[in-house]
Amino acid sequence: MSDITVLCVDDEQYIVDSIRDFISGEYACTACTDPVQSLEYLRQTPVDILVVDYRMAGISGLDLLREARKLDAYMVGILLTAYADKNLLANVLNDSLVYKALEKPLDLQRLKFELDESARQIRDKRENQEKLRDIYRFLSGAGDDGFGFIGKDGDLADLWRTVERIAPTDENVLVTGETGTGKDVIARQLHAMSTRADKPFIKINCGAIPAPLIESELFGHEKGAFSGADRRKFGKIELAHRGTLFLDEVGELPVDLQTRLLHVVEDKVVERVGGTQPIRVDFRLVSATNRALETAGAEEFRRDLFYRIATVHLKLPDLASRQRDLPVHILSLVERNARLFGKIATRVSPDAMRLLCSYSWPGNIRELDNVIKRALLMKSPVDDELTLVDMKAVMEAAVATTSGAFDQIARDIMAGSFSFSSTERELLQRVLTLSGGRIMEAARITGISKDRFYRLQDKPPT
Ligand SMILES: Nc1ncnc2c1ncn2[C@@H]1O[C@H](COP(=O)(O)OP(=O)(O)OP(=O)(O)O)[C@@H](O)[C@H]1O
Ligand SMILES: [Mg+2]
Repeated sequence: MSDITVLCVDDEQYIVDSIRDFISGEYACTACTDPVQSLEYLRQTPVDILVVDYRMAGISGLDLLREARKLDAYMVGILLTAYADKNLLANVLNDSLVYKALEKPLDLQRLKFELDESARQIRDKRENQEKLRDIYRFLSGAGDDGFGFIGKDGDLADLWRTVERIAPTDENVLVTGETGTGKDVIARQLHAMSTRADKPFIKINCGAIPAPLIESELFGHEKGAFSGADRRKFGKIELAHRGTLFLDEVGELPVDLQTRLLHVVEDKVVERVGGTQPIRVDFRLVSATNRALETAGAEEFRRDLFYRIATVHLKLPDLASRQRDLPVHILSLVERNARLFGKIATRVSPDAMRLLCSYSWPGNIRELDNVIKRALLMKSPVDDELTLVDMKAVMEAAVATTSGAFDQIARDIMAGSFSFSSTERELLQRVLTLSGGRIMEAARITGISKDRFYRLQDKPPT
Protein backbone atom coordinates (compact mmCIF):
# COMPACT_ATOMS: atom_id res chain seq x y z
CA MET A 1 0.00 0.00 0.00
CA SER A 2 1.05 3.56 -0.54
CA ASP A 3 2.95 5.46 2.10
CA ILE A 4 0.78 8.50 1.42
CA THR A 5 -2.68 8.70 2.98
CA VAL A 6 -5.54 10.71 1.53
CA LEU A 7 -8.89 11.61 3.07
CA CYS A 8 -11.67 12.74 0.69
CA VAL A 9 -14.58 14.63 2.16
CA ASP A 10 -17.57 15.59 0.05
CA ASP A 11 -21.22 15.30 0.99
CA GLU A 12 -21.95 13.74 -2.39
CA GLN A 13 -21.36 10.03 -2.18
CA TYR A 14 -20.65 9.53 -5.89
CA ILE A 15 -17.86 12.12 -5.84
CA VAL A 16 -15.91 10.56 -2.98
CA ASP A 17 -16.52 7.14 -4.50
CA SER A 18 -15.22 8.11 -7.89
CA ILE A 19 -12.14 9.78 -6.41
CA ARG A 20 -11.40 6.77 -4.28
CA ASP A 21 -11.82 4.35 -7.15
CA PHE A 22 -9.58 6.45 -9.34
CA ILE A 23 -6.66 6.88 -6.94
CA SER A 24 -6.81 3.93 -4.58
CA GLY A 25 -4.27 1.99 -6.65
CA GLU A 26 -1.62 4.47 -5.60
CA TYR A 27 -2.89 6.10 -2.45
CA ALA A 28 -4.31 4.84 0.81
CA CYS A 29 -7.58 6.68 0.36
CA THR A 30 -10.41 7.03 2.85
CA ALA A 31 -13.73 8.55 1.80
CA CYS A 32 -16.18 10.37 4.01
CA THR A 33 -19.46 12.14 3.29
CA ASP A 34 -19.91 13.70 6.71
CA PRO A 35 -17.54 16.64 7.34
CA VAL A 36 -18.09 16.64 11.10
CA GLN A 37 -17.32 12.95 11.29
CA SER A 38 -14.27 13.47 9.13
CA LEU A 39 -12.85 15.83 11.74
CA GLU A 40 -13.32 13.14 14.35
CA TYR A 41 -11.50 10.74 12.04
CA LEU A 42 -8.64 13.21 11.65
CA ARG A 43 -8.23 13.47 15.39
CA GLN A 44 -7.59 9.74 15.54
CA THR A 45 -5.82 9.13 12.26
CA PRO A 46 -3.25 11.41 10.69
CA VAL A 47 -3.54 11.88 6.93
CA ASP A 48 -1.10 13.46 4.52
CA ILE A 49 -3.52 14.98 2.05
CA LEU A 50 -7.05 16.21 2.69
CA VAL A 51 -9.31 16.68 -0.33
CA VAL A 52 -12.46 18.61 0.63
CA ASP A 53 -15.47 20.05 -1.05
CA TYR A 54 -15.99 23.76 -0.48
CA ARG A 55 -19.75 23.72 0.06
CA MET A 56 -20.98 21.15 2.52
CA ALA A 57 -23.74 21.06 5.09
CA GLY A 58 -22.47 21.53 8.65
CA ILE A 59 -19.04 22.96 8.05
CA SER A 60 -17.43 24.56 5.03
CA GLY A 61 -14.47 22.97 3.33
CA LEU A 62 -12.27 25.89 4.32
CA ASP A 63 -13.21 25.64 7.97
CA LEU A 64 -12.55 21.94 7.86
CA LEU A 65 -9.11 22.57 6.40
CA ARG A 66 -8.45 25.17 9.06
CA GLU A 67 -9.38 22.75 11.86
CA ALA A 68 -7.37 19.97 10.24
CA ARG A 69 -4.37 22.24 9.97
CA LYS A 70 -4.49 22.84 13.71
CA LEU A 71 -4.09 19.11 14.20
CA ASP A 72 -1.31 18.79 11.71
CA ALA A 73 0.74 21.73 10.60
CA TYR A 74 1.98 19.88 7.53
CA MET A 75 -1.25 18.52 6.10
CA VAL A 76 -1.77 19.33 2.42
CA GLY A 77 -5.22 20.71 1.59
CA ILE A 78 -6.92 20.41 -1.79
CA LEU A 79 -10.22 22.23 -2.18
CA LEU A 80 -12.95 21.26 -4.63
CA THR A 81 -15.44 23.89 -5.64
CA ALA A 82 -18.50 23.71 -7.80
CA TYR A 83 -18.57 27.47 -8.08
CA ALA A 84 -16.09 29.17 -10.34
CA ASP A 85 -15.79 31.87 -7.73
CA LYS A 86 -12.70 33.77 -8.78
CA ASN A 87 -12.58 35.84 -5.59
CA LEU A 88 -12.78 32.86 -3.36
CA LEU A 89 -10.06 31.08 -5.25
CA ALA A 90 -7.78 34.08 -5.26
CA ASN A 91 -8.25 34.52 -1.53
CA VAL A 92 -7.69 30.98 -0.51
CA LEU A 93 -4.67 30.52 -2.69
CA ASN A 94 -2.99 33.41 -0.95
CA ASP A 95 -3.56 31.53 2.23
CA SER A 96 -1.21 28.59 2.76
CA LEU A 97 -4.23 26.60 3.91
CA VAL A 98 -5.06 25.45 0.41
CA TYR A 99 -2.41 23.88 -1.74
CA LYS A 100 -4.61 23.71 -4.85
CA ALA A 101 -8.22 24.51 -5.64
CA LEU A 102 -9.91 22.48 -8.35
CA GLU A 103 -13.14 23.34 -10.05
CA LYS A 104 -16.03 20.98 -10.46
CA PRO A 105 -17.03 19.12 -12.54
CA LEU A 106 -13.96 17.39 -11.30
CA ASP A 107 -11.26 16.32 -13.72
CA LEU A 108 -9.95 13.19 -12.01
CA GLN A 109 -6.82 13.13 -14.12
CA ARG A 110 -6.01 16.66 -12.97
CA LEU A 111 -6.66 15.75 -9.33
CA LYS A 112 -4.34 12.78 -9.68
CA PHE A 113 -1.67 15.04 -11.13
CA GLU A 114 -1.90 17.40 -8.14
CA LEU A 115 -1.87 14.49 -5.70
CA ASP A 116 1.28 13.11 -7.32
CA GLU A 117 2.90 16.50 -7.08
CA SER A 118 2.02 16.88 -3.38
CA ALA A 119 3.09 13.32 -2.69
CA ARG A 120 6.51 14.09 -4.09
CA GLN A 121 6.81 17.14 -1.83
CA ILE A 122 5.59 15.20 1.18
CA ARG A 123 8.21 12.51 0.62
CA ASP A 124 10.92 15.16 0.35
CA LYS A 125 9.72 16.75 3.54
CA ARG A 126 9.73 13.42 5.33
CA GLU A 127 13.29 12.84 4.36
CA ASN A 128 14.22 16.25 5.66
CA GLN A 129 12.30 15.62 8.85
CA GLU A 130 14.27 12.45 9.37
CA LYS A 131 17.40 14.56 9.36
CA LEU A 132 15.77 17.22 11.50
CA ARG A 133 14.73 14.58 13.99
CA ASP A 134 18.35 13.66 14.59
CA ILE A 135 19.18 17.30 15.10
CA TYR A 136 16.24 17.76 17.49
CA ARG A 137 17.35 14.73 19.42
CA PHE A 138 20.78 16.14 19.72
CA LEU A 139 19.65 19.66 20.58
CA SER A 140 16.94 18.72 23.05
CA GLY A 141 19.44 17.02 25.28
CA ALA A 142 22.32 19.35 24.56
CA GLY A 143 21.32 21.76 27.31
CA ASP A 144 21.34 19.16 30.02
CA ASP A 145 23.32 16.04 29.27
CA GLY A 146 23.32 15.30 25.58
CA PHE A 147 20.52 12.70 25.53
CA GLY A 148 17.12 13.22 24.00
CA PHE A 149 14.19 10.96 23.45
CA ILE A 150 15.02 7.31 23.00
CA GLY A 151 12.95 4.46 21.69
CA LYS A 152 10.86 3.30 18.79
CA ASP A 153 9.46 -0.04 19.90
CA GLY A 154 5.76 -0.84 19.77
CA ASP A 155 3.45 2.14 19.85
CA LEU A 156 6.32 4.51 20.42
CA ALA A 157 7.12 4.98 16.75
CA ASP A 158 3.56 6.13 16.07
CA LEU A 159 3.57 8.27 19.15
CA TRP A 160 6.76 9.97 18.10
CA ARG A 161 5.34 10.65 14.65
CA THR A 162 2.36 12.32 16.31
CA VAL A 163 4.68 14.39 18.47
CA GLU A 164 6.45 15.67 15.40
CA ARG A 165 3.19 16.39 13.66
CA ILE A 166 1.57 18.35 16.47
CA ALA A 167 4.60 19.98 18.08
CA PRO A 168 4.47 23.01 15.75
CA THR A 169 0.72 23.50 16.34
CA ASP A 170 -0.99 25.16 19.31
CA GLU A 171 -3.18 22.16 20.16
CA ASN A 172 -3.60 21.33 23.83
CA VAL A 173 -1.83 18.08 24.56
CA LEU A 174 -2.43 15.64 27.39
CA VAL A 175 0.34 13.13 28.06
CA THR A 176 -0.59 10.09 30.11
CA GLY A 177 1.39 7.06 31.21
CA GLU A 178 2.52 5.23 34.31
CA THR A 179 5.14 6.78 36.51
CA GLY A 180 8.56 7.02 34.90
CA THR A 181 7.42 6.43 31.32
CA GLY A 182 8.72 9.78 30.09
CA LYS A 183 5.84 12.25 30.31
CA ASP A 184 8.16 15.03 31.34
CA VAL A 185 10.52 14.21 28.50
CA ILE A 186 7.67 14.37 25.96
CA ALA A 187 6.39 17.69 27.32
CA ARG A 188 9.83 19.24 26.91
CA GLN A 189 10.19 17.76 23.44
CA LEU A 190 6.87 19.28 22.37
CA HIS A 191 8.17 22.64 23.47
CA ALA A 192 11.63 22.21 21.96
CA MET A 193 10.10 21.26 18.60
CA SER A 194 7.52 24.06 18.58
CA THR A 195 7.69 27.56 17.21
CA ARG A 196 7.75 28.66 20.87
CA ALA A 197 11.05 26.91 21.56
CA ASP A 198 12.90 30.15 22.30
CA LYS A 199 10.14 31.31 24.68
CA PRO A 200 9.61 30.12 28.27
CA PHE A 201 8.73 26.55 29.21
CA ILE A 202 6.95 26.88 32.55
CA LYS A 203 6.24 23.76 34.56
CA ILE A 204 3.99 23.55 37.58
CA ASN A 205 3.48 20.32 39.48
CA CYS A 206 -0.11 20.44 40.70
CA GLY A 207 0.46 17.44 42.96
CA ALA A 208 3.47 18.87 44.78
CA ILE A 209 2.00 22.18 45.91
CA PRO A 210 -0.34 22.33 48.92
CA ALA A 211 -3.88 23.07 47.70
CA PRO A 212 -4.21 26.52 49.32
CA LEU A 213 -1.09 27.73 47.51
CA ILE A 214 -1.83 26.43 44.01
CA GLU A 215 -4.20 29.25 43.15
CA SER A 216 -1.67 32.00 43.56
CA GLU A 217 1.06 29.84 42.00
CA LEU A 218 -1.05 29.49 38.89
CA PHE A 219 -2.81 32.83 38.71
CA GLY A 220 -0.53 35.09 40.74
CA HIS A 221 -1.77 37.67 43.21
CA GLU A 222 -1.79 41.40 43.81
CA LYS A 223 -0.11 43.03 46.78
CA GLY A 224 -2.48 42.85 49.76
CA ALA A 225 -4.78 40.27 48.14
CA PHE A 226 -4.68 38.28 51.38
CA SER A 227 -2.72 38.45 54.60
CA GLY A 228 0.86 37.64 53.79
CA ALA A 229 0.64 38.89 50.22
CA ASP A 230 3.14 41.65 50.81
CA ARG A 231 4.05 42.04 47.18
CA ARG A 232 2.65 41.33 43.74
CA LYS A 233 3.34 37.84 42.44
CA PHE A 234 3.18 36.80 38.81
CA GLY A 235 1.38 33.52 38.24
CA LYS A 236 2.89 30.63 36.31
CA ILE A 237 0.26 31.02 33.57
CA GLU A 238 1.32 34.61 32.97
CA LEU A 239 4.98 33.64 32.99
CA ALA A 240 4.29 31.15 30.21
CA HIS A 241 3.20 33.99 27.91
CA ARG A 242 4.20 33.16 24.33
CA GLY A 243 5.69 29.87 25.51
CA THR A 244 4.46 26.55 26.84
CA LEU A 245 2.66 25.93 30.12
CA PHE A 246 3.23 22.42 31.47
CA LEU A 247 0.72 21.32 34.08
CA ASP A 248 2.19 18.20 35.60
CA GLU A 249 -0.07 15.89 37.62
CA VAL A 250 -3.02 17.90 36.39
CA GLY A 251 -5.37 15.29 37.91
CA GLU A 252 -4.48 16.60 41.38
CA LEU A 253 -5.86 20.06 40.69
CA PRO A 254 -8.68 20.90 43.15
CA VAL A 255 -12.09 21.08 41.47
CA ASP A 256 -12.67 24.81 42.10
CA LEU A 257 -9.39 25.58 40.36
CA GLN A 258 -10.33 23.27 37.51
CA THR A 259 -13.23 25.61 36.82
CA ARG A 260 -10.95 28.63 36.79
CA LEU A 261 -8.44 26.86 34.63
CA LEU A 262 -11.14 25.93 32.13
CA HIS A 263 -11.95 29.61 31.68
CA VAL A 264 -8.33 30.54 31.23
CA VAL A 265 -7.81 27.80 28.65
CA GLU A 266 -10.93 28.88 26.79
CA ASP A 267 -10.45 32.64 26.90
CA LYS A 268 -6.69 32.91 27.25
CA VAL A 269 -7.17 35.59 29.88
CA VAL A 270 -6.06 35.44 33.56
CA GLU A 271 -6.84 37.53 36.58
CA ARG A 272 -4.48 37.62 39.52
CA VAL A 273 -5.94 36.89 42.94
CA GLY A 274 -7.16 40.23 44.30
CA GLY A 275 -6.69 41.77 40.87
CA THR A 276 -9.23 43.57 38.74
CA GLN A 277 -7.38 43.70 35.44
CA PRO A 278 -7.78 40.79 33.07
CA ILE A 279 -4.43 39.90 31.50
CA ARG A 280 -4.23 38.43 28.04
CA VAL A 281 -1.95 35.41 27.82
CA ASP A 282 -0.85 33.38 24.86
CA PHE A 283 0.39 29.95 25.86
CA ARG A 284 0.39 26.41 24.58
CA LEU A 285 -0.90 23.99 27.17
CA VAL A 286 0.67 20.61 27.80
CA SER A 287 -0.68 18.57 30.71
CA ALA A 288 0.39 15.25 32.17
CA THR A 289 -1.06 12.73 34.56
CA ASN A 290 -0.76 9.06 35.44
CA ARG A 291 -4.46 8.91 36.30
CA ALA A 292 -7.24 7.83 33.93
CA LEU A 293 -9.03 11.18 33.91
CA GLU A 294 -11.45 10.08 31.19
CA THR A 295 -13.07 7.71 33.65
CA ALA A 296 -12.75 9.87 36.76
CA GLY A 297 -16.00 11.02 38.35
CA ALA A 298 -17.10 14.61 37.70
CA GLU A 299 -16.49 15.42 41.39
CA GLU A 300 -12.83 14.51 40.85
CA PHE A 301 -12.12 15.89 37.41
CA ARG A 302 -14.36 18.01 35.23
CA ARG A 303 -15.28 16.32 32.01
CA ASP A 304 -15.33 19.55 30.01
CA LEU A 305 -11.86 20.39 31.23
CA PHE A 306 -10.64 16.94 30.25
CA TYR A 307 -11.86 17.41 26.67
CA ARG A 308 -10.32 20.88 26.58
CA ILE A 309 -6.86 19.86 27.69
CA ALA A 310 -6.80 16.59 25.75
CA THR A 311 -7.36 17.80 22.20
CA VAL A 312 -4.48 15.50 21.48
CA HIS A 313 -3.99 12.63 23.89
CA LEU A 314 -0.57 10.97 23.91
CA LYS A 315 -0.49 7.68 25.76
CA LEU A 316 2.97 6.55 26.75
CA PRO A 317 3.35 2.77 26.90
CA ASP A 318 4.97 0.99 29.83
CA LEU A 319 8.60 0.02 29.46
CA ALA A 320 7.53 -3.65 29.64
CA SER A 321 5.89 -3.30 26.25
CA ARG A 322 8.95 -1.71 24.68
CA GLN A 323 11.29 -4.60 25.33
CA ARG A 324 13.32 -3.99 22.21
CA ASP A 325 14.27 -0.49 23.32
CA LEU A 326 15.71 -1.74 26.60
CA PRO A 327 19.34 -2.24 25.53
CA VAL A 328 19.53 1.29 24.09
CA HIS A 329 17.99 2.77 27.23
CA ILE A 330 20.40 0.81 29.40
CA LEU A 331 23.49 1.84 27.51
CA SER A 332 22.47 5.46 27.27
CA LEU A 333 21.59 5.65 30.98
CA VAL A 334 24.88 4.01 31.95
CA GLU A 335 26.80 6.47 29.85
CA ARG A 336 24.88 9.51 31.04
CA ASN A 337 25.07 8.57 34.73
CA ALA A 338 28.71 7.53 34.55
CA ARG A 339 29.49 10.98 33.27
CA LEU A 340 27.37 12.52 36.02
CA PHE A 341 29.18 10.59 38.76
CA GLY A 342 32.66 10.76 37.27
CA LYS A 343 32.94 6.99 36.71
CA ILE A 344 34.46 5.32 33.68
CA ALA A 345 32.13 2.32 33.66
CA THR A 346 30.32 2.51 30.35
CA ARG A 347 30.27 -1.17 29.46
CA VAL A 348 27.70 -3.67 30.65
CA SER A 349 28.66 -7.35 30.80
CA PRO A 350 26.46 -9.68 28.72
CA ASP A 351 24.99 -11.47 31.75
CA ALA A 352 24.23 -8.15 33.50
CA MET A 353 22.59 -7.03 30.26
CA ARG A 354 20.46 -10.17 30.17
CA LEU A 355 19.37 -9.59 33.73
CA LEU A 356 18.43 -5.98 33.02
CA CYS A 357 16.54 -7.01 29.90
CA SER A 358 14.59 -9.75 31.59
CA TYR A 359 13.14 -7.78 34.48
CA SER A 360 9.69 -6.23 33.94
CA TRP A 361 10.48 -2.71 35.22
CA PRO A 362 7.18 -1.76 36.86
CA GLY A 363 8.71 1.64 37.69
CA ASN A 364 9.60 2.08 34.03
CA ILE A 365 12.55 4.16 32.87
CA ARG A 366 12.82 5.97 36.17
CA GLU A 367 13.33 2.66 37.99
CA LEU A 368 15.88 1.58 35.40
CA ASP A 369 17.64 4.90 35.84
CA ASN A 370 17.69 4.53 39.64
CA VAL A 371 19.03 0.98 39.50
CA ILE A 372 21.82 2.02 37.17
CA LYS A 373 22.64 5.05 39.31
CA ARG A 374 22.86 2.94 42.45
CA ALA A 375 25.05 0.33 40.77
CA LEU A 376 27.37 3.01 39.42
CA LEU A 377 27.66 4.79 42.75
CA MET A 378 29.09 1.65 44.30
CA LYS A 379 31.51 1.15 41.47
CA SER A 380 35.19 1.90 41.80
CA PRO A 381 36.04 4.90 39.61
CA VAL A 382 38.59 2.88 37.64
CA ASP A 383 36.40 -0.12 36.90
CA ASP A 384 34.98 0.13 33.39
CA GLU A 385 32.27 -2.54 33.38
CA LEU A 386 28.99 -3.12 35.21
CA THR A 387 28.73 -6.81 36.01
CA LEU A 388 26.04 -9.24 37.08
CA VAL A 389 27.31 -8.96 40.65
CA ASP A 390 26.89 -5.16 40.58
CA MET A 391 23.38 -5.43 39.22
CA LYS A 392 22.34 -8.22 41.59
CA ALA A 393 23.33 -6.09 44.53
CA VAL A 394 20.88 -3.35 43.59
CA MET A 395 18.08 -5.38 42.02
CA GLU A 396 17.66 -8.37 44.28
CA ALA A 397 14.93 -6.90 46.46
CA ALA A 398 12.89 -5.53 43.56
CA VAL A 399 13.12 -8.64 41.41
CA ALA A 400 12.14 -10.90 44.30
CA THR A 401 8.78 -9.22 44.71
CA THR A 402 7.57 -8.74 41.14
CA SER A 403 5.56 -11.30 39.28
CA GLY A 404 5.82 -10.44 35.59
CA ALA A 405 6.22 -13.41 33.26
CA PHE A 406 9.81 -12.49 32.60
CA ASP A 407 10.83 -11.89 36.19
CA GLN A 408 11.24 -15.64 36.78
CA ILE A 409 14.03 -15.61 34.22
CA ALA A 410 15.54 -12.63 36.03
CA ARG A 411 15.42 -14.58 39.29
CA ASP A 412 17.03 -17.59 37.63
CA ILE A 413 19.79 -15.44 36.23
CA MET A 414 20.47 -14.09 39.70
CA ALA A 415 20.42 -17.52 41.27
CA GLY A 416 22.87 -18.75 38.65
CA SER A 417 20.42 -21.44 37.56
CA PHE A 418 19.77 -20.03 34.15
CA SER A 419 21.79 -21.56 31.40
CA PHE A 420 22.96 -19.22 28.69
CA SER A 421 23.86 -22.18 26.52
CA SER A 422 20.19 -22.97 26.09
CA THR A 423 19.23 -22.86 22.49
CA GLU A 424 16.87 -20.25 21.19
CA ARG A 425 14.25 -22.94 21.01
CA GLU A 426 14.53 -23.69 24.71
CA LEU A 427 14.55 -20.04 25.57
CA LEU A 428 11.43 -19.33 23.58
CA GLN A 429 9.78 -22.39 25.07
CA ARG A 430 10.57 -21.02 28.52
CA VAL A 431 9.04 -17.68 27.74
CA LEU A 432 6.00 -19.39 26.37
CA THR A 433 5.58 -21.50 29.50
CA LEU A 434 6.01 -18.44 31.67
CA SER A 435 3.37 -16.65 29.63
CA GLY A 436 0.94 -19.46 30.40
CA GLY A 437 1.18 -20.78 26.84
CA ARG A 438 -0.29 -17.59 25.40
CA ILE A 439 1.59 -16.94 22.20
CA MET A 440 0.34 -13.37 21.82
CA GLU A 441 1.53 -12.57 25.33
CA ALA A 442 4.93 -14.22 24.79
CA ALA A 443 5.35 -12.33 21.52
CA ARG A 444 4.41 -9.07 23.19
CA ILE A 445 6.84 -9.48 26.07
CA THR A 446 9.78 -10.46 23.94
CA GLY A 447 9.10 -8.40 20.86
CA ILE A 448 9.70 -11.62 18.89
CA SER A 449 7.22 -12.29 16.10
CA LYS A 450 4.39 -14.63 16.99
CA ASP A 451 5.20 -16.71 13.89
CA ARG A 452 8.45 -17.81 15.51
CA PHE A 453 6.48 -19.09 18.46
CA TYR A 454 4.07 -20.90 16.19
CA ARG A 455 6.97 -22.51 14.36
CA LEU A 456 8.39 -23.53 17.70
CA GLN A 457 5.24 -25.46 18.37
CA ASP A 458 4.98 -26.70 14.79
CA LYS A 459 1.62 -25.04 14.63
CA PRO A 460 0.46 -23.19 11.57
CA PRO A 461 0.21 -19.42 12.19
CA THR A 462 -3.35 -18.18 12.46
N1 LIG B 1 12.21 8.02 25.85
C1 LIG B 1 13.15 8.36 26.72
N2 LIG B 1 14.41 8.50 26.34
C2 LIG B 1 15.37 8.79 27.23
N3 LIG B 1 15.16 8.97 28.54
C3 LIG B 1 13.93 8.85 28.99
C4 LIG B 1 12.84 8.55 28.09
N4 LIG B 1 11.72 8.50 28.80
C5 LIG B 1 12.06 8.74 30.08
N5 LIG B 1 13.39 8.95 30.21
C6 LIG B 1 14.11 9.20 31.47
O1 LIG B 1 13.42 8.49 32.50
C7 LIG B 1 13.27 9.27 33.67
C8 LIG B 1 11.80 9.45 33.98
O2 LIG B 1 11.16 10.18 32.93
P1 LIG B 1 10.06 11.31 33.22
O3 LIG B 1 10.45 12.13 34.39
O4 LIG B 1 9.79 12.01 31.94
O5 LIG B 1 8.84 10.36 33.60
P2 LIG B 1 7.34 10.76 34.00
O6 LIG B 1 6.44 9.98 33.12
O7 LIG B 1 7.19 12.24 34.00
O8 LIG B 1 7.23 10.16 35.46
P3 LIG B 1 6.34 10.65 36.73
O9 LIG B 1 4.93 10.23 36.44
O10 LIG B 1 6.91 9.85 37.84
O11 LIG B 1 6.51 12.10 36.85
C9 LIG B 1 14.00 10.56 33.39
O12 LIG B 1 15.31 10.45 33.89
C10 LIG B 1 14.05 10.65 31.87
O13 LIG B 1 15.16 11.38 31.43
MG1 LIG C 1 6.82 13.59 35.53
